[in-house]
Amino acid sequence: MAVDKQTPLERQWDSLLPQAQRISRIPARELVDRDPRRFADFSVSGPGLTLDYSRQRIDAPAREELLRLADVAGLRDAIVAMWRGDVINKTEQRPALHIALRQPAGAKIGGQDIESMVLAERRRMLGFAEAVRSGAVASSTGERFLDVINIGIGGSDLGPAMALEALRPYAVGGPRVHTVSNVDGCALVDLCARLDPARTLFIVASKTFTTQETMANAQSARAWIVDRLGDSAVPAHFAAVSVNAAAMDRFGVHPDYRFAMWDWVGGRYSLWSSIGVSLAIAIGAAGFNELLAGAHEIDQHFHDAPWQQNLPVMLGLLGVWNINLLQLPTHAVLPYDSRLARFPAYLQQLDMESNGKSVSLDGAPLQHATAPVVWGEPGNNAQHSFFQLLHQGTPRAALDFLLPAQSSCGRQDHQDLAIANCLAQAEAFLRGQRGEGVPPQKVHEGDRPSSILLFRGLDPRTLGRLLAVYEHKVYVQSVIWGINAFDQWGVELGKKLCEGMLPVLSGEKVPSAALAGLVNLIKQLKC
Ligand code: F6P
Repeated sequence: MAVDKQTPLERQWDSLLPQAQRISRIPARELVDRDPRRFADFSVSGPGLTLDYSRQRIDAPAREELLRLADVAGLRDAIVAMWRGDVINKTEQRPALHIALRQPAGAKIGGQDIESMVLAERRRMLGFAEAVRSGAVASSTGERFLDVINIGIGGSDLGPAMALEALRPYAVGGPRVHTVSNVDGCALVDLCARLDPARTLFIVASKTFTTQETMANAQSARAWIVDRLGDSAVPAHFAAVSVNAAAMDRFGVHPDYRFAMWDWVGGRYSLWSSIGVSLAIAIGAAGFNELLAGAHEIDQHFHDAPWQQNLPVMLGLLGVWNINLLQLPTHAVLPYDSRLARFPAYLQQLDMESNGKSVSLDGAPLQHATAPVVWGEPGNNAQHSFFQLLHQGTPRAALDFLLPAQSSCGRQDHQDLAIANCLAQAEAFLRGQRGEGVPPQKVHEGDRPSSILLFRGLDPRTLGRLLAVYEHKVYVQSVIWGINAFDQWGVELGKKLCEGMLPVLSGEKVPSAALAGLVNLIKQLKC
């Protein structure tokens, strides 16, 4: 008798293959047109958001197998483990408790101690944000701050930068808030050229307080303040967020101006912590609390809803279906709201830094693909740049359209045009164009799967919901792929090699033979 050596998970993956083969022979438009209940059956709603996945290449039997995959992969236990504060980030021996950061009093996520710590630090941070807004926290010259600059990179920049742009209409009554991240220093130079040091507050946001880019920008900002206002001005002009108290001491951050983070919060999951202080200064404590409340609503939904009614779970499973079964390795995210222009960049870190892995939790090489290449732009602009490739090019992508029904700038007439464009594109990607008399150059094959994530309008609560949906989608996929979504060892090698490059550039160290030609040319061009 043959012994079945397959694990239940392997068997479940295998049972998806015939489904994918079957579906790939059915034009997607047929799936839509033959089922009058297609929208009702192939959409899912969570708090304030609806995911219409009726244009995905999937039907009920295939979905059944996918839902079973979630069960067999242990998604239920994985969610419970996250909520319980288990060490799910195994390589760093930490829990991943970003859900604890947006909890209201009494939720006890992560336990009573964590809840108390989070709420106390949130109160301090929001109190500080309000004091900066009102002028109660003033500059070294006793004046109200007119400008605040967040210095950070990766998760200490992308969340605040994206949200500041998304929530611009809510940023009233406080100072202007800017962000600086790139090590080239250009953003800082440009800001310093037009801002008044006596009215500028810097926030150095860095979980580790060792990140080269952030430290270089922070030191240059410090030099600017010292040069214009003197050494004694530093404590009034620098706040910081970090787990590294010693480094904040060395920098000269005043104890009242520093905010804690915890090692159980990953950088890309940290907007909800004091890393969001620049955003809180812009939109105020009430706005920031709305953001947290929106995310917490999704956390509860993710924790409680059955898979088929669970928005992050369905988003995650559809991604698995597209990547692993339909072989679509890229994922374009296309907001039909220009205020979400930085949303794709935010998602790139969230998704690709989390799930860009090729070994399992215990280090074994994976036999399947993991995170997609995430990319995107505001959809309407993208129509006039790279949509040509999406419609007729050879690389294939799965698409998420993000669609607010209401205008984010009070121009519903314009937003109606944006909505019409979004729906037209979704139809074009589904149906394509072919038939007698259509020349090959004008043929669109169609069958490009897309989902529409629809919401009323972009406000702090809705943004919180959107971000939490994608965070949990990433977790769902990591569980199904058997990988750790919360470490990022792949970024360390480049950092380490960079340390060795500076002496090479300064001439203290001889470059390797492979680099010598290029280094010499760089030296010549620098002169
Ligand atoms: O280089 C990647 C990374 O470690 C991200 O994970 C993180 O968000 C970013 O750098 C910034 O790190 P820090 O907040 O410690 O400066």
